[in-house]
Amino acid sequence: MSAGERHVRLEVAGLAAGYRGVPVLRDITLDVRAGERVGVVGRNGAGKTTLLAALIGIVAPTRGTVRLGGHDIAGRPPYVIAAHGLGYVPQGRRLFPRLTVDENLRLAARSKNLPTSGVYDYFPHLADRRHQLAGTLSGGEQQLAAIARALAGDPKVLLLDEPAEGLSPVAVEGLRDTLLAISRDRGVGLLLVEQNTTLLAATVERALLLEKGSVVGELTAEQLGDEQSLRVFLSV
Ligand SMILES: Nc1ncnc2c1ncn2[C@@H]1O[C@H](COP(=O)(O)OP(=O)(O)O)[C@@H](O)[C@H]1O
Ligand SMILES: [Mg+2]
Repeated sequence: MSAGERHVRLEVAGLAAGYRGVPVLRDITLDVRAGERVGVVGRNGAGKTTLLAALIGIVAPTRGTVRLGGHDIAGRPPYVIAAHGLGYVPQGRRLFPRLTVDENLRLAARSKNLPTSGVYDYFPHLADRRHQLAGTLSGGEQQLAAIARALAGDPKVLLLDEPAEGLSPVAVEGLRDTLLAISRDRGVGLLLVEQNTTLLAATVERALLLEKGSVVGELTAEQLGDEQSLRVFLSV
């Protein structure tokens, strides 16, 4: 894939994965079309984190295919998958707390020798704090820094694992604006695991419902816009 390529599709078919022989994901088939914003919802333990971990290569798939821009990436090491253009914002942010914001970003960009400067356009508030230790940022700032770090790797599709977790409503609004801007300006596809109905409704075009490691349904934009019924879906 050329470095400048935009609008890349993520295609997953028959994906299975688990831990030490215990199956968690079963026959997952999903598609994030070029530039599309797709949600993943499901109760605790449904396998949402495992799904993203299997896509990025942290958990090895036992079956199935994962194609990004036509390249088969299933079972490749995470750094190879990232180089193909899959970005990952892990649950709980996982920044290096004793490195500065800038150092965290430059670590992510290093393998591709990408400049990190353009990334700060989306995070003006973070640009002011680029020399601050990441561990001293607020929760909302750390979440934005985790997204900035992923963006420094120039992803075509971005996987996000519950980025709104623990954030204030104001911080969630900032997160929404940032995700929509990245999607709009860069054509980055999003696969957003999220329990926060406000962020979900405002960000994604449809959402997959995950239950016991399988995709059991899909919520439409209309259903996502109805926060009350969405809450019922998420609490079952
Ligand atoms: N590192 C691990 N080792 C073994 N089992 C795990 C591990 N991580 C998650 N699991 C199990 O996999 C299942 C799915 O977990 P997870 O993907 O974290 O779900 P979710 O993100 O939807 O809450 C759960 O039964 C969980 O206990
Ligand atoms: Mg999880």
